[in-house]
Amino acid sequence: MIKKAVIPAAGLGTRFLPATKASPKEMLPIIDTPTIQYVVQEAVDSGIEDILIISGRGKRAIEDHFDRNFELEQRIKEKEDETYNEIMNLSSLANIYFIRQKEINGLGDAIMYARQHTGNEPFAVLLGDTIVDSVIPVTQQLMDIYEQYKSTVIAVEEVPRDKVSRYGIVGGEELSDKLMRLNQLIEKPAVETSPSNLAIAGRYILTPGIYKALEKTPKGKGNELQLTDALIELLKTESIYSKTFEGKRYDIGNKLDFIKTTIEFALKRKEFSSDVLAFMKEIIRDYEKAN
Ligand code: UTP
Repeated sequence: MIKKAVIPAAGLGTRFLPATKASPKEMLPIIDTPTIQYVVQEAVDSGIEDILIISGRGKRAIEDHFDRNFELEQRIKEKEDETYNEIMNLSSLANIYFIRQKEINGLGDAIMYARQHTGNEPFAVLLGDTIVDSVIPVTQQLMDIYEQYKSTVIAVEEVPRDKVSRYGIVGGEELSDKLMRLNQLIEKPAVETSPSNLAIAGRYILTPGIYKALEKTPKGKGNELQLTDALIELLKTESIYSKTFEGKRYDIGNKLDFIKTTIEFALKRKEFSSDVLAFMKEIIRDYEKAN
């Protein structure tokens, strides 16, 4: 059973400046809930009991968010409403630990900081800036594959063929409709030579073998230690599987996707959906008239 998860959240968020100059991008709210809260909730819903968040400079707000705030609790206590319960619940969702990545040297380097914490156990990795909306939490979907094969499992999603060169792409032998045993991982392949249109999607189950692989991996793109490069190394000694997950992924690390996510999530919320829809129709009408 996998009980530990690692959430890397130390990145600089350069694609979301100036918002991310002094605030963590993982705290950007979708409506009223910080992105990383959705991520923590997914881990908890998947049965994770112990979460290590990799944080860094300027990321204190993340720690405060999952800590208690007595003054606030006192202030909203009388109401005893849903918000109060949610605020009280936040600090007891799971055992949440923090470690600071000293230099921002890439996702692979961030994972290295989890070594002592996860020891000899396999663990889940959930990127702190990526939300997945699904019926069965995607981490749970990966755990189910892990229980069968006891090997590393990567969540992948289909992307348009002509856009593969923007993603980390996997290739391999199809075991069933949504499951592959990998023989290739390739960062940003050319469209003509790409082994598939299945892109790495920000959720992983990793075996402890990843640490040795990371040690052997030289710095890659952007002079950073890339997790995908370490997975290529790991593939030399261990099997890796990919699962085309059921659900929809939202990468809030880029501005356009953040806007789309906000709109979609607003339309999913009962208290906002009809007003937001009416407002959208109105501004689209006005916009089309004016252009
Ligand atoms: P990204 O590559 O999307 O984040 O990493 P970034 O580097 O902050 O983004 P840009 O390109 O500058 O805009 C995915 C996740 O991994 C974490 C990030 O915080 C994010 O949640 N990460 C990335 C780390 O924890 N450490 C790193 O060195 C890099």
